[in-house]
Amino acid sequence: MANGLDEVVAAETVLSDVDGLGGRLTIRGHSLADLAGRRSYAQVAHLLLEGFFDDLPEDAGLKESLGQARAEVFERLRPVLGALAALDVYSGMRAGMALLPDRKTLADALRLIAAPAVLTPALLRMGRGEQPVSPDAQADHAADMLRMLKGDTASPALAKALDTYLVTVCDHGLNASTFATRVVASTQAGLTSAILAGLGALKGPLHGGAPGPVIEMLDAIAESGDAATWLRAEIDCGERIMGFGHRIYRVRDPRADVLKAVVRKLVAAGGAVGRLAFAETVEQAALDVLRVAKPSRSIQTNVEFYTALLLEAAGFPKEAFTNVFAAGRVCGWVAHAREQQLTGRLIRPQSRYVGPLPELVA
Ligand code: COA
Repeated sequence: MANGLDEVVAAETVLSDVDGLGGRLTIRGHSLADLAGRRSYAQVAHLLLEGFFDDLPEDAGLKESLGQARAEVFERLRPVLGALAALDVYSGMRAGMALLPDRKTLADALRLIAAPAVLTPALLRMGRGEQPVSPDAQADHAADMLRMLKGDTASPALAKALDTYLVTVCDHGLNASTFATRVVASTQAGLTSAILAGLGALKGPLHGGAPGPVIEMLDAIAESGDAATWLRAEIDCGERIMGFGHRIYRVRDPRADVLKAVVRKLVAAGGAVGRLAFAETVEQAALDVLRVAKPSRSIQTNVEFYTALLLEAAGFPKEAFTNVFAAGRVCGWVAHAREQQLTGRLIRPQSRYVGPLPELVA
C-alpha cells in the first residue's frame, strides 16, 4: 500500500507538471521562468482557465473581469466583514468564501479567484481597527491587493514582487490542496465547495502553513545567535525545519530560486528586506545540518523559505502568509476543479481493513 500515495497517479492533467529530479515546474507548456515576472497574475489565470469556460474573455479582458469580481466580492461580503474580522484571518477568509454562490459558472470562478485578495487586506485592516479599502476594478490584481492592505498605491517594485509571487505559486501538480479540491469537484459539487476543501488542506504546516513558522524560526535563531546549534537542537527534538524538504523535489525547489531573485530585486530597489543576508546564512546552515542529520534523503530549500521574506517585505503579517498563498493558488484549484468535472470520474479509492473482525456468533 502507498502510505501517503507516493508515486500514485490519481489524475491526468494539462495544467502543470512537477519534475522532482530535474527541479522543473511546467505550467501549461511554459516553464516557471517563462511566466514568473513576465506575465501578470491575470494573464496566468487566463492560461490556466483556458478551455474550461465557454465564455472566458480574451486574454487581455481577464484583468478587467477579475477587477469586477474583486468589486463584487467586496460589495457582497461588506455587510459581514465585521463578523469575519472577529475570526483569525485565515478562518475569516475561508468563512467569507463559503458565503459565495456554490455553482460552476465563470462568474463564480472569478469571484472565488478574487476573494482571497479582497478579504485578506479587509480583514487585516479591520483587525487593527481601520476601515476596509474598496477594490479598484481597473487596477492590476496584486497592486490592488497591496493598495487595499495599505490604503495607498504600492511602489511598482513591490506590486511586481507580489504579482511574481502569485504567479509562482499558482499551480503545482497534484499537491495536497489541489488533490482535495479535485476530490470534492469529482462529486460534481459546486466550485465553492471544491475550493473550500483546498483551503482546508492548504492551512496545515506541512503544506501552505509553513511560511509563518519560517519567520518564527528566523526570529528564534537571531535571538539564539547560533544557527547551526539551534537547528541541530530542533532536529534532535524530532522537529522539522520549516521551509525545507519536499515530497516531490529531490533537488532545489525552482520556485525558491524565483522568489529569492525577487527578494534580491526588492533589496536593490530599496525595499525593506532587512534580513535577506541573515536568511541566506540560516539557509546554508540548515542545508548543512540537514545533510548530516538525514544523510539518506536530499532535503533542500522549498518555496516557503523565501515566501516568508517576500511577504514580510510586502507588509503582510505572518499570520496572513497562508492567505496570500491561497490568493495565488486559488486559480490553480479552480482550473483543476473544472478539469476534473469535465474530464474525470468520481474519485473513490479503496482502503484495506486492518481492524478486528466481528465476533462469530455461535
Ligand atoms: N526538517 C527535518 N527533517 C525533515 C524535513 C525537514 N524540513 N523534511 C523531511 N524531513 C525528514 C523527516 O523527518 C523524515 O526523516 P526520518 O526518515 O528520519 O523519519 C524524512 O525526512 C522523510 O520525511 P517524510 O515526512 O516522509 O517526507 P515527505 O516527503 O512527506 O516530506 C514535507 C515533505 C514537506 C512534509 C517535509 O519535507 C516537511 O515537513 N517540511 C517542513 C514543512 C515545510 O516546509 N512545508 C512546506 C512544503 S512546500
